[in-house]
Amino acid sequence: MELLDGKALAETIQREVRDTIASFASGARPSITLVQVGDDPASSVYVRGKARACEECGITSDAMHLSRDIKEETLLGILKDLSGDSSVSAILLQLPLPRHIDEAMAIAAISPIKDVDGFHPENMGLLVAGTPRYIACTPLGIRELLVRNGIATAGKRAVVLGRSLIVGKPMALVLSMKGEGGDATVTMCNSRTPDLADHTARADIVVAAMGKPRFVTAGMIKEGAVVVDVGINRIEDPSKKSGYRLVGDVDFEEVSKKASYITPVPGGVGPMTIAMLMVNTLKAFTVQVKTPNVLS
Ligand code: GUN
Repeated sequence: MELLDGKALAETIQREVRDTIASFASGARPSITLVQVGDDPASSVYVRGKARACEECGITSDAMHLSRDIKEETLLGILKDLSGDSSVSAILLQLPLPRHIDEAMAIAAISPIKDVDGFHPENMGLLVAGTPRYIACTPLGIRELLVRNGIATAGKRAVVLGRSLIVGKPMALVLSMKGEGGDATVTMCNSRTPDLADHTARADIVVAAMGKPRFVTAGMIKEGAVVVDVGINRIEDPSKKSGYRLVGDVDFEEVSKKASYITPVPGGVGPMTIAMLMVNTLKAFTVQVKTPNVLS
């Protein structure tokens, strides 16, 4: 079994982004506004991680922290203003949002040219059409992790567990796209899938993204399969100072004995998501320098 070291690869990619930005003759820097609504502790951890990565890459980041009680129309107004602000290359709206805000409306209020998460319907539509602009950071990071570790996807059976906008849906599209990191035969499963283990047991590649701690067990996996664990779940652990520890959607200890490659949690997919946000933000900057404000 080989560990897919997302932490090390993310550092390499972030160095590549930093070197590219440092080489810009104009001295101009990409910029991103990180919008957080409310105080969800997990979201705060992610936003801090994103801001730190920006600093390391030479991307200017502005963290906008809004009250959890903000009115929907106020948030939409802020997102529209940022979309029209030519000093902002990219906008990241950290999800989930408080329940009184319509998430789809908020995502649609972001200019698609600044939507570095790739969640806007226009960017999703471009991915479906096979001509992507921004691909959601987690699936993009997983593709990069597979490709740069020399793991073939063409002609392989891939099973994606989960159908979220953030991971499952774009992941299935990426794996089935033509070209590098694609050309797989993809099955998308969800919580209503009967005989789920029959699907996973036939899979050469399993991507687990349904948010259920240690759901994928060794009995569900084929010998030699590639297992990608997107889950980040807090479980109680009295032996830790914090009282909890992080586990994935995969029972790492058992599944790692059967898998050919597996991602650890933490240190697998998580750092790759952040690295791809840096890649997408650099792309947003480059695109807008060439075609200023066409869509904003
Ligand atoms: N919440 C969980 N994952 C993500 C992500 O990739 N982007 C944003 N904006 N919110 C998230």
